[in-house]
Amino acid sequence: MNPIKHVAIIMDGNGRWGLKHNKSRNYGHTKGVEVIQKIVKYSIKKKIPTLTFYTFSTENWNRPKSEVDTLMSLLVQTLKDEFEDIFKNNIKLNAIGELDTLPDEVRDELDSIIQGTKDNTGMILTLALSYGGKQEIFKAVKEISEKVKNDIICLDNFDDSLINDHLY
Ligand code: IPE
Ligand code: MG
Repeated sequence: MNPIKHVAIIMDGNGRWGLKHNKSRNYGHTKGVEVIQKIVKYSIKKKIPTLTFYTFSTENWNRPKSEVDTLMSLLVQTLKDEFEDIFKNNIKLNAIGELDTLPDEVRDELDSIIQGTKDNTGMILTLALSYGGKQEIFKAVKEISEKVKNDIICLDNFDDSLINDHLY
């Protein structure tokens, strides 16, 4: 069995890489996709059970619209291009974050791959999209407060497993 249970990667520096090579930030993002493809292949080879990419943070929405649009199109295109290979490699795709804030075409593509790979038993590949650490905590607190308000849970039996149950 692989002693490594989970590899999580925060994508960063792609824009700067593009500029450093006298090209655009978007060129850097395109190259970033190629790097991800290599990492996924290598992780399959090394039998990594869970691979997570922190792909697009809640803060990333503050970037210029043209850059956000490019990132979203790259995501849709990559998902379309990779669907077959993801499926063939027995990968189960997962996504975390405020998925309802993503453009419809991104969500539709994600939904179809998540649905199409749900019975796969190999590597779990998670994309964090419109994700933030604070956002995840906020989501947990909000869901727990709702349950308390509606008398579904009582705070007397509050322990850390309750928080765990409301994290992605
Ligand atoms: C990572 O690279 C990709 C995304 C966040 C979408 P960056 O876009 O953060 O690149 P830098 O850090 O600005 O160079
Ligand atoms: Mg960055």
